[in-house]
Amino acid sequence: PLIRFDVLTLFPNLFEGFLSESILKRALERNLIAVHRHDLRTWASNKHHQVDDRPFGGGPGMVLMAPPVVEAVEAVQALTAPPGLVLAMTPSGRRLDQEWVRRLATQPRLILLCGRYEGFDERIIELLQPKLVSIGDYVLSGGEVPAMVVIDAVSRLIPGVLGDDQSAAEDSFGPEGLLDHPHYTRPRLYRGLSVPEVLTSGNHAEIARWRREQALQRTRQRFREAVLPTIPNAPYGSAPPA
Ligand code: ADE
Repeated sequence: PLIRFDVLTLFPNLFEGFLSESILKRALERNLIAVHRHDLRTWASNKHHQVDDRPFGGGPGMVLMAPPVVEAVEAVQALTAPPGLVLAMTPSGRRLDQEWVRRLATQPRLILLCGRYEGFDERIIELLQPKLVSIGDYVLSGGEVPAMVVIDAVSRLIPGVLGDDQSAAEDSFGPEGLLDHPHYTRPRLYRGLSVPEVLTSGNHAEIARWRREQALQRTRQRFREAVLPTIPNAPYGSAPPA
């Protein structure tokens, strides 16, 4: 495989459907990528197979304990070389973007650490020095969905993972950082809405020009939305304040 993912999680079964359909399934079958799941409970030492505990100092929720997690990562890294880059999924991490995804896709091995409950004992971070990855400024109930996001976004950049009829090169956030242009397929007319004529003209230079203009327009629009002050609780897409 061109890249190996090792996922450390309390819920390895959550990845079942994700890995058994579509692009990821095909990439695994064709041995372009490898995904190994490891149940953190395997490294629980005490009699209750406990991997989380109540926070010192009080407060709600449970904290992932350092000993099982640190020992799990070390054991998994020792399974095979290279040790791999360790990523810990947490909303307090650095926001993932396509540029970071492109750099991750150059790694031979990624170790993905999924948190649950209120988070990781800080000594896990100190000892393993993982890169902290957030997939966005909202809180999920665990790092499993974020780990799937990383595996998906990285895998589709691995040569051969996308089919001939797909391409990562023309996606949003390409080299210029532009959003993708609009797409249309059959039927030509649907509920009174027609396909822009240029796309059926056969004029490829004109089509390329139109798509670029659309991509620029969309990117400018998105940028405006991002920097204008927001009306609290206004529905998305509502008019910006004057
Ligand atoms: N765990 C919980 N929420 C998360 C987020 N937004 N990104 C990464 N890991 C998380």
